[in-house]
Amino acid sequence: MNQQNIPLLSVRSITKRFPVRTGLLGKRIWKTAVNEVSFSIEQGSTLAVVGESGSGKSTLALMALDLLAPTAGDILYQNRPFSDRSREERRRLRRDMQVVFQDPYASLNGRMNVREALTEGMIIHRLADSPAEREERALQLLRQVSMPPESLDRYPHEFSGGQRQRIAIARALSVNPSFVVLDEPTSALDVSVQSQVLNLLRRLQKENNLTYLFISHNLEVVSYLADNVAVMENGSIVEMGSVDDIFDRPQKEYTKKLLQAIPAIDLLRGHNEEA
Ligand SMILES: Nc1ncnc2c1ncn2[C@@H]1O[C@H](COP(=O)(O)OP(=O)(O)O)[C@@H](O)[C@H]1O
Ligand SMILES: [Mg+2]
Repeated sequence: MNQQNIPLLSVRSITKRFPVRTGLLGKRIWKTAVNEVSFSIEQGSTLAVVGESGSGKSTLALMALDLLAPTAGDILYQNRPFSDRSREERRRLRRDMQVVFQDPYASLNGRMNVREALTEGMIIHRLADSPAEREERALQLLRQVSMPPESLDRYPHEFSGGQRQRIAIARALSVNPSFVVLDEPTSALDVSVQSQVLNLLRRLQKENNLTYLFISHNLEVVSYLADNVAVMENGSIVEMGSVDDIFDRPQKEYTKKLLQAIPAIDLLRGHNEEA
């Protein structure tokens, strides 16, 4: 992995509280979804955040993308806090930071064909001036994700789940991002398709020098891509280290429990070939 020891993203003691309801006497009741979380992700590397459903992973992801404001704490992108940047600068960062969700329909509009899905961001961010240039770039993106050129005229529902996720990934890459948040990108896919998509993500990371924040409830999936792993429980990071630290020398009971959920003979780790 291309590690240059420069943090692309640093999260410093961020907290997010949501008002959940109003209690007796009009007192607000709050839920702490993310609790004083800190980490850095080096350029070109992958930090995985693993934890059970409801542990605060997606809330953390939205804050890292500057789509949700923390209640407290700072997030630095390229060494500068979001809060120090002008609206125009923050708008430009929308291009540099992309996200792939579990459900491809969260990023793909069912009424847009693949050509439209892949060129929309290029038009918004003025990355390709002529239709011919956009078409060429869209075809190149399809090649990158191993999808046939005929896909351009098709609609999301005409593809399998794995193909749809490839298209969602191509759309994320269409604006040349540096940082990509992968929020449970393979959780809805069959196991065999999962490993193909994970291999694709790994190849794309190398080809494009991408930095990933990879979110999953599944430690096995994480081992495939991560350089470092943060284990999250109830909004807090309870353990963080290299992928080898976490797998070979887990310190916390919670981490051991997540490890025990992995079927021993079925470890994805170590399988390198893209199917
Ligand atoms: N907009 C919101 N309003 C109120 N509570 C929320 C909101 N978003 C998330 N939560 C709560 O915060 C906690 C963490 O949620 P989430 O970040 O989605 O966890 P994960 O992605 O790990 O499953 C959960 O208890 C969830 O119900
Ligand atoms: Mg989530």
